[in-house]
Amino acid sequence: MTPTASIELTLKDISAGRTSGSMCSTDLVEAPWDIDTAPGYGPGASTADPIPVSAPRQGEIPVEYRDATVDELRERIVRAKAELGHRVVLLGHHYQRVEVVEHADYIGDSFMLARAAQNHPEAEAIVFCGVHFMAETADLLSTPDQAVILPNLAAGCSMADMADIDQVEDCWEQLSELFGTEPDADGKVPVVPVTYMNSSAAIKGFCGRNGGIVCTSSNAEVVLEWAFERGRRVLFFPDQHLGRNTALGMGIDLAAMPLWNPARPLGGNDEETLLESTVILWQGFCSVHKRFTPAQIAKARTEHPGVRVIVHPECPQETVAAADESGSTAYITKAIAEAAEPATFAIGTEINLVQRLAAEHPQHTIFCLDPVVCPCSTMYRIHPGYIAWVLESLLAGTVVNRISVDPEVAVPARVSLERMLAAKPRI
Ligand code: 13P
Ligand code: SF4
Repeated sequence: MTPTASIELTLKDISAGRTSGSMCSTDLVEAPWDIDTAPGYGPGASTADPIPVSAPRQGEIPVEYRDATVDELRERIVRAKAELGHRVVLLGHHYQRVEVVEHADYIGDSFMLARAAQNHPEAEAIVFCGVHFMAETADLLSTPDQAVILPNLAAGCSMADMADIDQVEDCWEQLSELFGTEPDADGKVPVVPVTYMNSSAAIKGFCGRNGGIVCTSSNAEVVLEWAFERGRRVLFFPDQHLGRNTALGMGIDLAAMPLWNPARPLGGNDEETLLESTVILWQGFCSVHKRFTPAQIAKARTEHPGVRVIVHPECPQETVAAADESGSTAYITKAIAEAAEPATFAIGTEINLVQRLAAEHPQHTIFCLDPVVCPCSTMYRIHPGYIAWVLESLLAGTVVNRISVDPEVAVPARVSLERMLAAKPRI
């Protein structure tokens, strides 16, 4: 069977019994509209993650978009985009479904898309087909008169929401009390905050205000080096796995990486552990990437001798250790594109990207390590119906679903982002 790039079709085929396989939630094949207006993130990998009270809610869109077929929506999007011309730039993250990325001017990882947003000051609107923190970042890097649009407001990121600004401020207060705030004899401060791009603008602003920086999965090591030039230790949030995997790769001892549980005093640690720490890891994680296990890798190696296993650094440490390589979505895409000879790849990242890569590179055998078809349910909230709606609204002179960061947060958030953009990614 020719591999299909469409996860939507794969899910429908499994659900209708046309192909074998299992998926993490049958709700994913239902019409998205009810899911998006209901409280919570919707079905799938992050079902169990609570939606924060402050998260934006998506209202119901007109019935003409809800009832249209995929082909009708495709035609409407193509027509609206052509009419809008340079007035709009459409950005698509690697984890978006193929029915979305086919319309994208840029397809990339969060780092690349942040740069693309910055490089189009002529566009009136940037339609960000990704999740909320990515749209916030695009707003921070674009000009004030440009509108950044998130087609569906229900597209959050459960990991980003695991670091709440009040909890982070509270943690900082406890650490400042314990370590003091003065630089040591070498001029290094006791702790430098580093946040993963997958965080709210408020957390990026916190980093900007406190001598910290943002990183993505493509530049985490470079960013940690930056931080260690300025501080004794790093407070890393929200993804414990990216923090741990990157620090281990730099030769930092696992024992010097305590986990910070925001619900407990001193994050659940004693003073000595924190005083001896090098990287304090916030206890966030990605619901999609924590599904990848060393057992899946062992099975892939038994069934496909010579398989090349590449996983995203949001996977747990044991999984990264069992893989051949780990890297950002940009790294994975590049590794496959550059493989000269036909090869077999087992990939540990979101299924939309894996299935699209398999369809784009038929000379290779490419499969997802997780046998269960389980898209990132928040990325999956961007349906072509919403894209047609936001583009046709723009044509009619109305900006819907604009994401704008409060200026008080935006100023320091830009500081931490600019520091990151100056750090060259290694991919
Ligand atoms: P990238 O930074 O590799 O684009 O990943 C973003 C993300 O959300 C991964 O889960
Ligand atoms: Fe967030 Fe994980 Fe989805 Fe990435 S894959 S957007 S980290 S929930």
